[in-house]
Amino acid sequence: MNFTEQYNEYLTAVEQAIAESAEAMRFVPPILKESMCYSLLAGGKRIRPVLFYAALDALGQDYLKEKLLAVALECIHTYSLIHDDLPAMDNDDFRRGKPSNHRVFGEANAILAGDALLSYAFDLLFKASERDKKHLAAAQVLSRAAGADGMIAGQSADLLWSGKEGGERELFFIYENKTGKLLTAPLEMAAILGDGNVAAATEFGKDLGILFQMTDDLLDEKGSSARMGKTLGKDKLEKKLTCVHVFGMETSEKLADEYAEKCLGTIKAFTENSSFFEGIVSLVRNRDH
Ligand code: IPE
Ligand code: IPE
Ligand code: MG
Ligand code: MG
Ligand code: MG
Repeated sequence: MNFTEQYNEYLTAVEQAIAESAEAMRFVPPILKESMCYSLLAGGKRIRPVLFYAALDALGQDYLKEKLLAVALECIHTYSLIHDDLPAMDNDDFRRGKPSNHRVFGEANAILAGDALLSYAFDLLFKASERDKKHLAAAQVLSRAAGADGMIAGQSADLLWSGKEGGERELFFIYENKTGKLLTAPLEMAAILGDGNVAAATEFGKDLGILFQMTDDLLDEKGSSARMGKTLGKDKLEKKLTCVHVFGMETSEKLADEYAEKCLGTIKAFTENSSFFEGIVSLVRNRDH
């Protein structure tokens, strides 16, 4: 199987798990489920649950048994996007190729859709935790990565440094937290469940997270809105602290190459079955969406 076929195999399993969860939702008033699913079922690369399944697979685990954790990952990521787009945050009108959640349901309902997706993810985490101590530990990794010691810390720093003269240190804090923590979590969770090397998972996830946000920043400058499914050029407008702001385009491209190279080294410590993850690094470095 080549990389694309392999990605699609994991993706199909992820999409099925998300669809099953959505199908089972019985929330009242109905606008709750509608607004949650508007964003959750809008596609996206699903790279976090795909990484989770791929890492489980590489460690010889049956990834199809870990649907609850995979769906929890994507629910938390999707909620982070809904809130990230709110007028009080990045004020973005498009996401995943469609009008943002608040543009369709209004700001208040979009806040609640995000809240509900986050709470729903915790419901799934508790359910998964009933299985054994390893699942409890994996769930705890995700809950930490989502919160004030993870993605939210990064979002907070992102807001704090908007319009201010931050430098490299502040930039990398933002990268490692707002993006890195939710990309590291799936690798660490898989390492816990599959008795893998958790420290190596952390190291690889951190580098991949930095690379991922670097390319996000670069694409905000040079990408196509149609391909990205969101309005571009926003970082400059909102005076965000990005790699483009700190280093300029040319140096940022070189830095992204360096981080891609660094990732290839850290993968090796994580797994001998490294080829799919090498494909992921190349996908993240060269992506156009
Ligand atoms: C966008 O994440 C937010 C960042 C962390 C840069 P993705 O690029 O993974 O968005 P989707 O899930 O594919 O829509
Ligand atoms: C968002 O980073 C990271 C999240 C935690 C959602 P960005 O604000 O750069 O993501 P985009 O560019 O809106 O997708
Ligand atoms: Mg943002
Ligand atoms: Mg944003
Ligand atoms: Mg961005």
